[in-house]
Amino acid sequence: MTSNVTTTPREIPSLTATSTSVIASARGLVKTYGTGDTAVQALAGIDVDFARGELTAIMGPSGSGKSTLMHCMAGLDTVTAGTVVIDGEDVGSMNQRQLTRLRRTRLGFIFQAFNLVPTLTAAENITLPLDIARRPVDRTHFDAIVAAVGLAKRLHHRPSELSGGQQQRVACARALAARPAVIFADEPTGNLDSKSSTELLAFLRRSVDDLGQSVVMVTHDPRAAAYAHRVLFLADGRLVAELTNPTQASVLEILGSLSAVDDAASARELTSVGA
Ligand SMILES: Nc1ncnc2c1ncn2[C@@H]1O[C@H](COP(=O)(O)OP(=O)(O)OP(=O)(O)O)[C@@H](O)[C@H]1O
Ligand SMILES: [Mg+2]
Repeated sequence: MTSNVTTTPREIPSLTATSTSVIASARGLVKTYGTGDTAVQALAGIDVDFARGELTAIMGPSGSGKSTLMHCMAGLDTVTAGTVVIDGEDVGSMNQRQLTRLRRTRLGFIFQAFNLVPTLTAAENITLPLDIARRPVDRTHFDAIVAAVGLAKRLHHRPSELSGGQQQRVACARALAARPAVIFADEPTGNLDSKSSTELLAFLRRSVDDLGQSVVMVTHDPRAAAYAHRVLFLADGRLVAELTNPTQASVLEILGSLSAVDDAASARELTSVGA
């Protein structure tokens, strides 16, 4: 597989997918935390399209705005400026009730901490979002997901009786159970050993290839990013590079070139301070 790299030294004007089938998009997305001297611009104007039926990875240094982007896309945080559209619906124009409904019915989440309910079994955790939304559980779909995550023999165990990898797979199954339009995963393999993480990534990719799921995943791990169809790179709240059909090597190459740009910028700053 060959990698197609699009990168410019510091910024590219827009990373909008050429495909017409876009599941989630942002235009002119700005997020500023705080005000005055202490204000932090976490997102500095982002235009992005996430393609339907693809696994998109988001990478970038710590503090570059990856989690903020996911939270703003998912309506978990308010935006300072710009628009977010999920599956044709403008998130910014929604009231609290509509937002809650969007999150319950159209979005799935997988966080680094698994957020499972300790008193419920694996099966109950998986169907919880559907139960809360009072939606029926589609048994065929449920069985397909449980088989895919390899949890059939663990369904009646509580989270404390499961390994970290198994717990994360329950969290994945829970995100998939409601057939959301898109799943947002923030470092889903961050707490997993290499075997569990391989299983989870293979499963996420299968959920895209076999079940037609759309997934956006933040990761620091080039090996994880290589499972994606496309990788977007953030730096200082901006999208600075994009890679389609990534490999571990091509991801590492971009990360290297981005930190080289960072090093050059720091060197310039040091020189001007010294001058
Ligand atoms: N609630 C908040 N209040 C103030 N600043 C915040 C808040 N949340 C995030 N930030 C700041 O916004 C910037 C982006 O944070 P974000 O969490 O999106 O980074 P990240 O790319 O996910 O980093 P990491 O890889 O460490 O998870 C950082 O400078 C962070 O300190
Ligand atoms: Mg983060």
